[in-house]
Amino acid sequence: MKQTVPLIVGNWKMNPVTMADAVALSIAIARKQKTALEPQVVIAPSFPHLSEVGKKIKKSTVALAAQDVYTQPLGPFTGEVSITQLKDLGVQYVIVGHSERRALGETDELVCEKVQVILKHQLIPIVCIGERERDEQANFFTLIEDQLRSLAEVLPAAAIKKVVVAYEPIWAIGTGNTATVEDVKEMQLFIETVLTKLYDRSTARKVRLLYGGSVKPENAALLHQEGDMEGFLVGGASLKAEDFAAIIKAVS
Ligand code: PGA
Repeated sequence: MKQTVPLIVGNWKMNPVTMADAVALSIAIARKQKTALEPQVVIAPSFPHLSEVGKKIKKSTVALAAQDVYTQPLGPFTGEVSITQLKDLGVQYVIVGHSERRALGETDELVCEKVQVILKHQLIPIVCIGERERDEQANFFTLIEDQLRSLAEVLPAAAIKKVVVAYEPIWAIGTGNTATVEDVKEMQLFIETVLTKLYDRSTARKVRLLYGGSVKPENAALLHQEGDMEGFLVGGASLKAEDFAAIIKAVS
């Protein structure tokens, strides 16, 4: 396993409904993670909650993430949120290309544009990749390779090293069908091999890899120890402070 600080990211998606609940959840998470530097814990509330949640976690070691960003820094783009606005709120990480956004039409091309904007402003992109289903001929590996290749087309080695890649098989997201430890390990090796081909081995080793898809307190320790990724992108289980804390503990 690589000797990096593991990263645990809580993706709250379009939850919770009220600001009060978002603030309470962030306080509960920050309290459990007050001074611990390992793993690095990140939470990604929805846009309306970023500002208040950011204030609540400011004095803790928990970092703030956004769930998306627009490609332009400011201007007439109704409904969009810019990287400069996110940065002003203290956001440090931005999730891009989540399968739930790709399902709404986000392409690899757009994902790459967003990644470039995020890096230009010295924030850390968490790029989600993953297949819809696993076919017996294993064609899904080609899809993963294509997603990585599209990043390599626009990012030099110095840039890709700053990117976090989250492998999230769509069939595992929110379904309870967690990938097996073998699936995760196999994908970790595959991604590293592809990145080595696209860049070189030392660069490939520096790209942080996360697994996401029905990570729970019950499966986190084994997935972490034997899956060989460097942390998790957690959806549902990040909405309960106890569960999220148990996942954090599992990789500590
Ligand atoms: P899940 O979501 O943990 O609820 O499966 C993961 C994600 O969508 O990032």
